[in-house]
Amino acid sequence: MSAFPAKSQSRASILAALADARASDLTADGRAFAFIYDAGQETRDLAREAYAACMSINGLDPTAYPSARTLERALVSACLELMRSPEGAVGTATAGGTESVMLAVKAARDHARKTRPEVTRPKMLLPITAHACFHKAAHYLGVEVITVEVDDTFRAKLGDARAKMTSDVILVVGSAPSYAHGVVDPIEGLASLAKEHATLMHVDACVGGLVLPFLRDAQVSGVTVPAFDFTVDGVTSISMDLHKYGFAPKGSSMLLMRDRALREAHYFACATWTGYTIVNSTTLGSKSLAAAGAALAVMQHLGREGYVQLAKTMWEATSTLLRTIESRPELRLLARPDMNLFAFTTRGGDLFELADRLTARGWHVQPTYGFGPSPAHVHLTIDPSNAPHAQAFASDLEACLVDLPEGVAPPAEVLAMLESVASAPAGAGVDVGSLIASLGIVDGQLPSRSAPLHRILDAASPALREKLVVLFVGGLFA
Ligand SMILES: Cc1ncc(COP(=O)(O)O)c(C=O)c1O
Repeated sequence: MSAFPAKSQSRASILAALADARASDLTADGRAFAFIYDAGQETRDLAREAYAACMSINGLDPTAYPSARTLERALVSACLELMRSPEGAVGTATAGGTESVMLAVKAARDHARKTRPEVTRPKMLLPITAHACFHKAAHYLGVEVITVEVDDTFRAKLGDARAKMTSDVILVVGSAPSYAHGVVDPIEGLASLAKEHATLMHVDACVGGLVLPFLRDAQVSGVTVPAFDFTVDGVTSISMDLHKYGFAPKGSSMLLMRDRALREAHYFACATWTGYTIVNSTTLGSKSLAAAGAALAVMQHLGREGYVQLAKTMWEATSTLLRTIESRPELRLLARPDMNLFAFTTRGGDLFELADRLTARGWHVQPTYGFGPSPAHVHLTIDPSNAPHAQAFASDLEACLVDLPEGVAPPAEVLAMLESVASAPAGAGVDVGSLIASLGIVDGQLPSRSAPLHRILDAASPALREKLVVLFVGGLFA
């Protein structure tokens, strides 16, 4: 695509260039076990039409665009119903899980500023397994993270949370479930601890909010959905993403609050400038209702029945994969998941070589590095598009285990060189291009055999990993 064309281009050539740009993207062809949440062609087509129909609705001002109010109210009430919310609970449509979480943290911080002015250094009790976006929220909002340890099933340890509770904790967090391991934290225990200390409790159901209620309704054997919603006393807010298992296009999530005062704590109003007085419910100002409109359309199209059926299908596929993994002495499931996403690793075999072998067979999986108690692993997210391929994936996984070599450490000198980059003072000249090239990354593409790169990143300190990914992404957009 040319940078800034001097003259108008034809519609056909513009659309062809867009199609061309997308040619190497992941698609919902059933081979991807990460990123994709897809309920099939019919749902996708409807979502596309609804998206286009709602594209020009501007949520900046729901009085100028009453449809923004109508759509958001409909989405909020559907989500409130799913989370079995009490009278008086309210919600806000957001652009994604990260935004929902950031607003939940902002609400907790600002609510504390009002109601607990003695708290000068707000803290958040956060299980080590909670999504990185809580760290982002903490970083942006000046809230300190107090890490809560997890047990050997990767669920938050209540004893540790209790031991670390102090009078300046403004928020306790639990996941339903955590992304990496797919397990639900002990929400009842965490919420009761929060209540006992008169503080707030957020349940991050970004990935589970549109699955767990339906899995509960489906009553399939092998799953007991733990309590996680507003029926749990002490839960004050819940985030749930419509653009994951709601099967809506990206740009749609929901933040629910047990009462209005909490919601007001994440609103932002400003009259101290020369333009119009603003009030924003979310971080964005002008915002399209396209994704929210599509989310609502998909919800109407599938209905409870559709979601229950999909939850069953995804759980059956998950069971197939869990059976295979648990039957193989070379593999280890990190934890029995509470829904259809989970993590497994090898017992000595080279995990990253295994991931490369799966890639070579046309599968997209998510190799994940070790951190704290969680070893390096392969993460799988099951959705309706890959569920019918679970058996084929399981067979390929078994084939990839044949003659799998033992894991090897990365070259020590490369790691030492990289660590010295991470500890270099800010502004010290780093030749990003050759650094990235030395890792085998060319033109933004990971090498087809990524094991050597993954071994280095897995062995690297978190600080080095962070530095390298920042350099890498900066390089991508140079
Ligand atoms: C549990 C959980 N919380 C939050 C998020 C962040 O969501 P998003 O990527 O939509 O910002 C994710 C994303 O995977 C998640 O799994």
